[in-house]
Amino acid sequence: MKKILQVQNLEKIYGNKGNLTNALNRVNFDVSEGEFVGIMGASGSGKTTLLNCISTIDTATAGSISIEGLDITALKSNQLAEFRCHKLGFIFQDYNLLDTLTAFENIALALTISGCKPREVEGKVHEVSERLGISEVLNKYPVQMSGGQRQRVASARALVTDPALVLADEPTGALDSKSARALLESFRTMVKDMNSTILMVTHDPFSASYTDRILFIRDGKLFTELIRGGDSRKAFFDKIMEVMMVLGGEAA
Ligand SMILES: Nc1ncnc2c1ncn2[C@@H]1O[C@H](COP(=O)(O)OP(=O)(O)O)[C@@H](O)[C@H]1O
Ligand SMILES: [Mg+2]
Repeated sequence: MKKILQVQNLEKIYGNKGNLTNALNRVNFDVSEGEFVGIMGASGSGKTTLLNCISTIDTATAGSISIEGLDITALKSNQLAEFRCHKLGFIFQDYNLLDTLTAFENIALALTISGCKPREVEGKVHEVSERLGISEVLNKYPVQMSGGQRQRVASARALVTDPALVLADEPTGALDSKSARALLESFRTMVKDMNSTILMVTHDPFSASYTDRILFIRDGKLFTELIRGGDSRKAFFDKIMEVMMVLGGEAA
């Protein structure tokens, strides 16, 4: 299986002399192509720091992060922008859609910026919209859509450029349970049908139960890993709850 992400001995220390926070402490893990991986841990355990280092929003203190074999901790700032644009897709908790653009235009924007031809843009937007079940809202503006539809348009925008890795920080955090379920189902579809690779931070065991594997972090360290294997979603959910219990109920 092709490795998309390799994190080695990653360290992040915030602050200065006398007031240091070791937000990440020698974190090691890999993610393969087509995997849907969750990151769980208590508030303050380092989840956002980890995602921000991988997304190059933040810089690591030590260690390396490779995406498709390229060590991004060694890139210069002009190379970083290029890398972010072509290799990464982002899905945030707030949808970040542009209010003055339709769903179609919001999704197409990512492609237009990266220089795709109009005919190509049209085809790609329709394809990803069909997969995510949002074809019927393409002509609507964000205010005319439900929260779940907006979130799926945001996902479509992150996916349409076919990035090597999609990063999602609490994507279901602002959704009702029906919309959350629809979004998580669409993530599974993307992983299965498009061989997308997704790394998702969540504190919600229900959302986590849709992934293939979960990394639990505690105090900036990898605490344990849970692999779904052949388990049903429900069986995996029960195992996640057990680990959260071991973590003292503080994994959420
Ligand atoms: N910019 C920052 N400056 C100083 N400390 C920070 C900063 N960002 C995060 N931290 C600290 O690093 C630790 C991990 O934070 P964070 O990654 O946000 O955790 P999580 O996302 O799991 O809640 C916490 O102790 C937090 O207070
Ligand atoms: Mg956080």
